[in-house]
Amino acid sequence: MQLLRAVAEAHAFRPVGSVGLVPTMGALHSGHGELVRLAAAENDHVVVSIFVNPLQFTDLGDCEDYRRYPRDLDRDVAFLEILGVDAVVAPSVEEMYPGGVPEVWVRSGTMGERLEGASRPGHFDGVTTVVAKLFALLAPDRAYFGEKDAQQLAIIERMVADLTLPVTVRPVPIIRGADGLAESSRNQHLTARAREQALVLPRTLATLAAGEVTVDEARARLAGAEGVELDHLEVVDPGTLLPVDHPGPGDLAVAAIHVGGTRLIDNRRL
Ligand code: PAF
Repeated sequence: MQLLRAVAEAHAFRPVGSVGLVPTMGALHSGHGELVRLAAAENDHVVVSIFVNPLQFTDLGDCEDYRRYPRDLDRDVAFLEILGVDAVVAPSVEEMYPGGVPEVWVRSGTMGERLEGASRPGHFDGVTTVVAKLFALLAPDRAYFGEKDAQQLAIIERMVADLTLPVTVRPVPIIRGADGLAESSRNQHLTARAREQALVLPRTLATLAAGEVTVDEARARLAGAEGVELDHLEVVDPGTLLPVDHPGPGDLAVAAIHVGGTRLIDNRRL
């Protein structure tokens, strides 16, 4: 497996055959493992990028969330080596943005202003900008994104369509722990008690998806849960992310909560 730290090295990596790209910010877990496994099944080569992108954090990374984002390259590289990845692209911020904060960005538009974007202004513009840059750098045939970040997935699919980018976006289903919590790099921040409190999120979404509670009841359950602060819970069209008036099968329930200082998101198809 090659470890490519310089952008020029990554650009020069052009193996013969199809390439599947798994873009990540590191702190890899079994959810990422699933992205890699699907990429390996569908492509001749798998490239994983590891880059904690400051543009998608508050104040362009001048914030606690960016500073305390878990980083352990050696551990991530060992994890990927076992999975048989061909190359890991792990550039520094200076390599990725040699001129500092870029002048020209890819805008995520109104899709990026709702839900997660309402609480994290500019977040999705940072995501679309870095993902477009990774696509330009690595020219993958397919790129793999988790359905856990449903809004990110919808925006990237729209970016690829709107900009006619020559890459196929492949969504990968959510991986959950035995207790039902969706795998996330942020779960590392949860104490055992906070993790227990966080379980109200997948459980409430499951009852909503099963039609056992209304959206209002689900919201009230999350808002009233001990140790939990509700950010949002909505039922949206998974393609446009617009709220639906009369939720039905195929619509997507999306929610975000804060537990013990950690922000968690999850979603379920109705
Ligand atoms: O989902 C993530 O880890 C990030 O948002 C991504 C897609 C790697 C862009 O930085």
